[in-house]
Amino acid sequence: MAKTQSRFICQNCGAEYRKWTGRCEGCGEWNSIEEERVEKGPKAAGGIAGGAKGKTIDFVALEGQSASPPRMISGIAELDRACGGGLVPGSALLVGGDPGIGKSTILLQAVGAMAAKHKCAYISGEEAIDQVRMRAARLGLSKTKVDFAAATSLRDIITTLEASSHEVVVIDSIQTMYADTLDSAPGTVSQVRACALELIRLAKRRGFAILLVGHVTKEGQIAGPRVLEHMVDTVLYFEGERGHQFRILRAVKNRFGATDEIGVFEMGDAGLVEVPNPSALFLADRDSPVSGTAVFAGLEGTRPMLVEIQALVAQSALATPRRAVVGWDSARMNMILAVLDARCGLALGQFDVYLNVAGGLRVGEPAADMAVAAALISAVADKPVPNETVIVGEIGLSGEVRPVGQLESRLKEATKLGFGNAYTPKNGMQAKKKMSIKGLNQTEIGHLQDLVNLFGDDVRDKVRPREGMY
Ligand code: TYD
Ligand code: MG
Repeated sequence: MAKTQSRFICQNCGAEYRKWTGRCEGCGEWNSIEEERVEKGPKAAGGIAGGAKGKTIDFVALEGQSASPPRMISGIAELDRACGGGLVPGSALLVGGDPGIGKSTILLQAVGAMAAKHKCAYISGEEAIDQVRMRAARLGLSKTKVDFAAATSLRDIITTLEASSHEVVVIDSIQTMYADTLDSAPGTVSQVRACALELIRLAKRRGFAILLVGHVTKEGQIAGPRVLEHMVDTVLYFEGERGHQFRILRAVKNRFGATDEIGVFEMGDAGLVEVPNPSALFLADRDSPVSGTAVFAGLEGTRPMLVEIQALVAQSALATPRRAVVGWDSARMNMILAVLDARCGLALGQFDVYLNVAGGLRVGEPAADMAVAAALISAVADKPVPNETVIVGEIGLSGEVRPVGQLESRLKEATKLGFGNAYTPKNGMQAKKKMSIKGLNQTEIGHLQDLVNLFGDDVRDKVRPREGMY
């Protein structure tokens, strides 16, 4: 007999409790536990003992004829790139991102572009028909053959899709979908889990690609349990700073392609426009060199990308100086400050330090360490990094500069954009001979101290402790 029971489920991590507590022991979140009613079926065929026997499964060799999956190309190159080369039929893709970042816009544009070749459906649980029509008109997609519906009932959607021949289905968003077999409200962990599971199962069975929109929590994770990310084949995050028009679609998981691949867009009056050459965009508006900026030769997925890192170091009026970081890991910046202090005698303890990655990009690579350090030293010394210089290198705790991956493609991108100098780590063991790139003057830096020295001998004098300190 099926029986309904109350369970207390953490809305953050999905941990289950028998009674309510204020703080989830699983993830440490406060006030995230809510009561949900779950239906408990009869216990599944009584463990190993008891119950009917299953049938034996067949094992096969790893070698065999499995063609690589066919792809449905949207024609929006940056989106196809983030998906690893187009949508795979029968696969599930989750798009997460802050509200208003452009998830609905990009997916409407995607189905609009694909509708000529594939039968596409867009099901919205968030917006009314008129709203979506208005958006479609704005995007110039009114004439495309996309089947649109506003619906939230999982039962209705499944019934409809069961009988339809759609090849691409967008569900905007999974948090608004509602399974009437469950008592809990839409958006709760059990609802999200159940709806996603049903829809993905159907997609696999009927062979259509399903694109789910997922809301993110204030911590930036897709709301609902992490299990949602496990259930789908591909997870894309749509990121970007408010106030910047750049949007980045980042693949954080992809069963059919490389992760860390990104697509870059610009939000304009007519929706999202792809940016084929993002380096130029992130470096735009650079005038004559100013102190406190450094250009990092980064790598996003397989794509080299130059970004500007800006630092500001100012005398602090506070007992505990301020540290603020936008677009990079703040713990990593503190580490670099500590290394500058301990290994190079550049003590910035009494200064406020601000760090910013220009253009609203988020850099995750440790290879940016040396560019960050250069921006900091340049800010302290009040001397600009030499003109047309890119910097790359990871910094170890002893101050040594460590080699980074794919140095060559990073530096090639730099020369393409007219940079003539590069500060790089010493070549690693893999590359025996010194790499030489035409038109690029490469300075190898083995220790952070060498980088400090490049800014002159008087850098340290600028950070002499105030009278009475220490
Ligand atoms: P939307 O796709 O609704 O975001 P999400 O689904 O992630 O919540 O994006 C809406 C934002 O994008 C809104 O702030 C307006 C802006 N926008 C434009 O600037 N230009 C456009 O052509 C469109 C359609 C939206
Ligand atoms: Mg939306």
